[in-house]
Amino acid sequence: MKPYITLGIETSCDETGAAVYHQEKGLLSNALFSQIELHKKFGGVVPEVASRSQLEKITPIIQTALDLANVSLDEINVIAVTNKPGLPGSLLVGVCFAKAMAFAQSKKLIGVNHLEGHAFSAFLEYDVPFPHLCLTASGGHTSLYLVHGFGDYTVLGQTVDDAAGEAFDKVAKLLELPYPGGPEIEKHSAQVNFEDFFSYPRSNPNTLNFSFSGLKTAVLYDMVKQGAYNMHDKKLLNTDTVFKNRVASSLLVCIADIFVQKVKRALKEHRDVKAVTFVGGVACNKYIKERLRTFCEQRRLPLFVPSPQFCTDNGAMIAFVGNYKAQQGKFSDLDLDILR
Ligand code: KG4
Ligand code: ZN
Repeated sequence: MKPYITLGIETSCDETGAAVYHQEKGLLSNALFSQIELHKKFGGVVPEVASRSQLEKITPIIQTALDLANVSLDEINVIAVTNKPGLPGSLLVGVCFAKAMAFAQSKKLIGVNHLEGHAFSAFLEYDVPFPHLCLTASGGHTSLYLVHGFGDYTVLGQTVDDAAGEAFDKVAKLLELPYPGGPEIEKHSAQVNFEDFFSYPRSNPNTLNFSFSGLKTAVLYDMVKQGAYNMHDKKLLNTDTVFKNRVASSLLVCIADIFVQKVKRALKEHRDVKAVTFVGGVACNKYIKERLRTFCEQRRLPLFVPSPQFCTDNGAMIAFVGNYKAQQGKFSDLDLDILR
């Protein structure tokens, strides 16, 4: 039988990603257009702007992925596309494009859950043993999974409100730092050596679920209490860099503490776990990575964190999931939707 050569397409939010994954040779290419610059002036992702940019970039990015892989569209036999969750207008661009290609060229179609893409993104570079614990933290999601095998995982906990990345983005906005907030918060924290100045509240230790909206409010109220923020005018009063550094650092240490605490609790409940993975955009954060690494080393557990290009949204993780789903015979019909 011919090996599967999968084209992976990712358009769930503000990144247009396409990649080619070969069943025997692995990842052949990974092309990306990030819309960050387009959304910067709005301080966050504007859905209408995002979907229009997806429409503009999808053809050239797919062409780039094919060119870099040195593979023609005829040689592609599986088209894997993120079909949920995400911004509807953005998702529709990728799903319609993938369906049209599959229909016109009689190729196999596979709808991939974006979170399953993140959850298996560490496999693009590492051979992670099963079962393992996966901490996914991005701008839209924060979850803990127990991963038993390819496509086989159980949700142990997830956020009941905001995602961790969202907390970074929202606090960065309060501090008048540019979007996306995560990298800015990390940069500012490094200036004060990742010290915890304001001891923001940690989350409930008795659950594996996360909650970050209360943390954002706690930061806001603390800033108001310190006379640094005017709630009425929604204005930052203390624009001093040292103050910003201290808020950023206290937030980062708090979120790192929460992650370590949740992983610790999950390991207590699941003693057969052989490794831990940390994935999603927030996994670009070197400080959190090191905190988790130190913790895992004490437990003699390997920690796998993808390189930054595979942490943030990308087509490679979608192509990877498409590849194993194809081998499992899990194909989608042409009525693939963005809701189910
Ligand atoms: O995975 P991703 O690209 O998109 C979603 O699926 O949401 O993640 C984007 C998120 C943003 O919230 C961004 O602030 C955060 O990842 N992020 C970081 C860092 N780099 C990106 N958060 C903390 N530290 C970073 N270095
Ligand atoms: Zn994502």
